[in-house]
Amino acid sequence: MSKPNEPWGNTVDVEFEEQIAFVYFNRPDKKNCMSPTLNREMYATLHALELDDRCKVIVLTGRGAAWSAGMDLKEYFRETDNESDNFKMRIREEAAAWQQVKLRYYGKPTIAMVNGWVFGGGFTPLTSCDLAISSDDATYGLSEINWGILPGGNVTKSVADTMGQRNALYYIMTGETFKGPRAAEMGLVNESVPHDKLKERTVELAKELMKKDPVVLRSAKEVFKRVRYMDYETANDYIYAKSDGSLHRSGGEFRSGAMKAFLDDKELKPGLDTYDKKD
Ligand code: COA
Repeated sequence: MSKPNEPWGNTVDVEFEEQIAFVYFNRPDKKNCMSPTLNREMYATLHALELDDRCKVIVLTGRGAAWSAGMDLKEYFRETDNESDNFKMRIREEAAAWQQVKLRYYGKPTIAMVNGWVFGGGFTPLTSCDLAISSDDATYGLSEINWGILPGGNVTKSVADTMGQRNALYYIMTGETFKGPRAAEMGLVNESVPHDKLKERTVELAKELMKKDPVVLRSAKEVFKRVRYMDYETANDYIYAKSDGSLHRSGGEFRSGAMKAFLDDKELKPGLDTYDKKD
């Protein structure tokens, strides 16, 4: 049973290891497809973990054979077909709340650790994660066309942003599957590794992220995600404003310490390594 301040333990589960929270889609018998219940629990889980000192990085992964087989065709679609329009809009809103907003602009770095099947709606949380490491064995598919819908829930936009026009349209229109190495080649994930190296490589990457100033890291990724929709002048102004804001919020010790280590103490080559704040 989950504790009141730990909203996971049902369709979502969490394990803490080395300051990483492994957040699991936890419906292995249903290939981790996303029901309205899972969407609500995932939002509550991410919301709680943002303030949880046990983790500095979030790794989103799946129990069993799937990362996530997309939206639940039974609980999200068929069982709600006869509900009111407002009810349907509400469950869409709850899905978007964690997949497109909370996760996309999350307070801590996020890594998708793709262990197995990823279909349809699964592409949205996948591309909302900052980084993604795939198992070579993982199988991806924009399967919507195979069952008569188009990729909603912003899946179409997610793949337009990450896979490029030719690749995105090819998989949207054919519904063909592809494996981890092809996902990496297209830029949908950062890397694809043999399945037995998946966790090791993900943890290694998470530890690298933990060395950075967390406030500046948060701003850096948020800025990237927002500036692509701005014109150059607005982006330039926004980036400086966010930069100044993050230094104000962090106190700027990391920056001044790193400059001292490089310019005065000659201990650091920031081109080659991260400053060690030794806290
Ligand atoms: N929605 C609802 N139920 C799903 C599901 C989904 N997206 N994906 C899997 N399940 C359920 C199956 O209905 C089955 O339930 P049951 O045991 O009550 O019959 C259970 O999960 C196991 O799936 P099964 O199809 O038996 O496993 P498999 O290993 O043979 O095939 C998949 C795995 C992922 C290839 C197959 O389940 C599938 O095609 N799922 C749909 C993927 C999809 O199109 N998603 C897009 C949604 S936007």
